[in-house]
Amino acid sequence: MISLTPCHTLYTEWNIFYNIKTKKTIFTTIMSKASENYVRVTTRTLSEMKAHGEKIAMLTAYDFTMAGIVDKAGIDVILVGDSASNVMAGHETTLPITLDHMIYHATSVVRGVNRALVVVDLPFGTYQADSKEALRSAIRIMKESGAHALKLEGGSQIKESIERILQAGIPVMGHLGLTPQSIYKFGTYSVRAKEKAEAEQLLSEAQMLEKAGCFSIVLEKIPAKLAEKVSKTVNIPIIGIGAGVHVDGQVLVLNDMLGMNKEFSPRFLRRYLNLDNEISKAIKNYTADVKNQDFPNNQEQY
Ligand code: KIV
Repeated sequence: MISLTPCHTLYTEWNIFYNIKTKKTIFTTIMSKASENYVRVTTRTLSEMKAHGEKIAMLTAYDFTMAGIVDKAGIDVILVGDSASNVMAGHETTLPITLDHMIYHATSVVRGVNRALVVVDLPFGTYQADSKEALRSAIRIMKESGAHALKLEGGSQIKESIERILQAGIPVMGHLGLTPQSIYKFGTYSVRAKEKAEAEQLLSEAQMLEKAGCFSIVLEKIPAKLAEKVSKTVNIPIIGIGAGVHVDGQVLVLNDMLGMNKEFSPRFLRRYLNLDNEISKAIKNYTADVKNQDFPNNQEQY
C-alpha cells in the first residue's frame, strides 16, 4: 500500500492510498471539522466554521498556566479580556485596567497557547480619543504580546479607530450590546436592546462592523431573538454571552464558568465546576496537615 500526501479541499482532508496488489485507490476522509483541520485556529478558520455551522467555543484567560490548560482542552478562541480588571485585580469595573496591564496578561497567555486564536481587549481610554492613539495602542499589544487579534467595544463612535487598526493589518473583533466599558453610561448591567430603536441600531452597527472588515462580533446580554437575527444577517461569526443559542459561538469568563466566584450569578452563566469549594477544601486540608505535622511525611523530605 502506498500512502500519498493528504490533499486538502476547502473543508475536508483526504488520505489517498494505492494498493499495489489490487491496483485500487482508496480515499479515506480523515477530518471533517474546520476547527480540527488547522494546526492553529485563525480568523479564517472561524469564518469557515460559521459557513459550515460548526459552533465556536471561546473562553477568557489571563495567565500562562490557565491559558495552557484551556488551549490543550481544545478551545477555539482565548480572549484576554479586560474582565481581568475584575477577576484578576478585584476592581468593580473594567475601566481601571491599563494598556501595560493588558500587555502583561496577553504576553503570559500567548506563551501558554499553541493552537487557539488569542484575542486581546483594547482597554478603556486607549482607543476612544482618536484613531491614531487607537492604532498606537493596537500596535503595542500586537508587537509586545504576540497576540493574534484585538477586540474593541462599540460601533459607529469608534468606526475610524477600527478602520485605522484594520488598515494596519490587525484583525478586529467587535463588541456590541452590554459593553462593560460603558457601564456608567448605561447605569445598570441589565439586558440591552430590548426596545425596538436600540435593537434596530444594534443590527445596523453589526452590519457596519462587518462592512468595515471586522472578522467577528461579540454580542453581550441582548435578547436571544435579536442575536439570532444579527447572526443570520451578517456573514461574520457572532459570539454570544447572554445572547442565546442561535449565534455562531459562545464566550464565558473562565473564572465564572469554573465556579471561582459565588457572588456573580447572572442567568446566562453556567458553572461547570465548583472550584471555589474545591480550592477551599484543599487549603483547609493542607493547613490542618501542617498544624498536625502530617505534612511533610518521610517520603516528602530529603
Ligand atoms: O472582558 C471580557 O471578558 C469580555 C467578555 C465578557 C466577552 O469582553
